[in-house]
Amino acid sequence: MFKTWFRRLTVLVSILAIIGNVYIFTYPSLHPQSCSWRCASQKVAMDATDSLSLIEKTSFHIRRYLDDVWSHIGTKKGVKRSSKRGLPSDVHLLALGDPQIKGIWKSTPYLSRLDTYGNDHYLGHIFRMMKKRLEPSHVAVMGDLFSSQWIGDSEFFNRTVRYTSRIFQRNSTWLQNIQQRSHDDSGLYTVDWPAFADDLEERLKKEPKDFEFGFSDVKSWDPANDDYLFINLTGNHDIGYSGDATYQHMARFEELFGKDNYWVEYDRDTEHPWRIVVLNSMLLEGPALQPQLVEKTWEFLYRLFEQRFEGSTVLLTHVPFYKTPGLCADSELFRYYPHDYEREPYKQNLLRSQNHLSQDATKRVLNLIFDNDKPGVILTGHDHEGCETWYNKDAKSGDWTASKTIQASTELHIREITVRSMMGEFDGNAGLLTGHFNSRTKLWEWSFSLCPFSIQHVWWFTKVVTILSGLFLSILVVV
Ligand SMILES: *[C@@H]1O[C@H](CO)[C@@H](O)[C@H](O)[C@H]1NC(C)=O
Ligand SMILES: *[C@@H]1O[C@H](CO)[C@@H](O)[C@H](O)[C@H]1NC(C)=O
Ligand SMILES: *[C@@H]1O[C@H](CO)[C@@H](O)[C@H](O)[C@H]1NC(C)=O
Repeated sequence: MFKTWFRRLTVLVSILAIIGNVYIFTYPSLHPQSCSWRCASQKVAMDATDSLSLIEKTSFHIRRYLDDVWSHIGTKKGVKRSSKRGLPSDVHLLALGDPQIKGIWKSTPYLSRLDTYGNDHYLGHIFRMMKKRLEPSHVAVMGDLFSSQWIGDSEFFNRTVRYTSRIFQRNSTWLQNIQQRSHDDSGLYTVDWPAFADDLEERLKKEPKDFEFGFSDVKSWDPANDDYLFINLTGNHDIGYSGDATYQHMARFEELFGKDNYWVEYDRDTEHPWRIVVLNSMLLEGPALQPQLVEKTWEFLYRLFEQRFEGSTVLLTHVPFYKTPGLCADSELFRYYPHDYEREPYKQNLLRSQNHLSQDATKRVLNLIFDNDKPGVILTGHDHEGCETWYNKDAKSGDWTASKTIQASTELHIREITVRSMMGEFDGNAGLLTGHFNSRTKLWEWSFSLCPFSIQHVWWFTKVVTILSGLFLSILVVV
């Protein structure tokens, strides 16, 4: 009696496990268009299912799903970036919004610990799936890598190790080497921020100021191990807003994640130049706790402007640009520490948080970056919901107005895409930016899509039923 019952349960759990696993390992095939780079053939295959009956629609979707699964199985054919004679290959940039990984403290209950552990692997699953399917040329994490700027160096380090090894499945030995060089009495990582501060102030004093912001034609920071360029952006939860950001925040970010402001120019002296600009948007406005950090960001923008770059620009930054309320989930909001702030008096009146860049900073930044009137695209993070708007430049006044659709009266239109978060609550999205050089117009064309997974519970459910089914099956074998 019990055995029959148990056998049925095992069958049920095993079936659920199979369905769950098939789903989580093939989910991009359910949305083959938004989960693939934009390429010429795809424009043809757009779904025109509106006129079909329900049965025809269902069979269309099933066939599309199976075709897509089939085309990604076995033969590691991948999606080689088209590279016709003389033409540059497409840019395939995977943009991941705000992972915001949480920490584990002594007081954290075991269930939350498990949740955090699972969440790392849920995010890692998304990255693994995307990397295998898409073979991106660039991977950018849009800031807010962590969930809090109020953490010590050791916790910052520990989360970096999780970020590196669990989510992005990268070798983290180099992090241990850094910890061995730079640690406190109990061997835990501490950053040598006074050295960072001295160095920065020294460089700011020189004339011209002594900074290296530029790279050219870098396809990977570590070509022996990586065939893509990994870009980490600063977010307000990583370094704080400008009223919070200290030398310590910036020093540890730079040590573990790289520079906060830089550009990479590609194919500068060809007819198809383009570049990536990484901008630390937390340190543009104030009043700031360390005005030197803001000064450095503006120095970066002036240098960038002086490059007189003739190509297309992909701007990557965390905080979105100014827009009127109603265009996206967030509207402009600036908060300042009160003038009588008791807890940390040195922060009185400083910038506490911001949802957008101010109108003035938006104008200055966009005019410095998109000054050559070439097409480009902006990717941001921060609001979690995701959004798309157009920035229209009035050539006479140099003003930029945001709108839902292109304003035909203006000449230059740059699309800003706020990348929806990869967190489970927002369905584990990955953003796909394709850049294609149009040989007829001699311009780069940028297109974007979001590839959704599903809420983390589906992933969890699959893992649990998989373990249970393994357990039950082995019990059945033994009994
Ligand atoms: C970071 O990890 C190390 C090793 O696991 C641990 O000893 C240390 O307490 C962690 N740091 C914090 C702040 O929890
Ligand atoms: C990680 O890198 C170190 C040296 O940087 C190397 O010794 C080690 O074998 C690597 N580990 C893996 C798993 O590749
Ligand atoms: C970004 O972070 C990852 C993981 O820590 C690291 O491997 C990579 O080198 C970083 N990128 C840069 C430009 O330092």
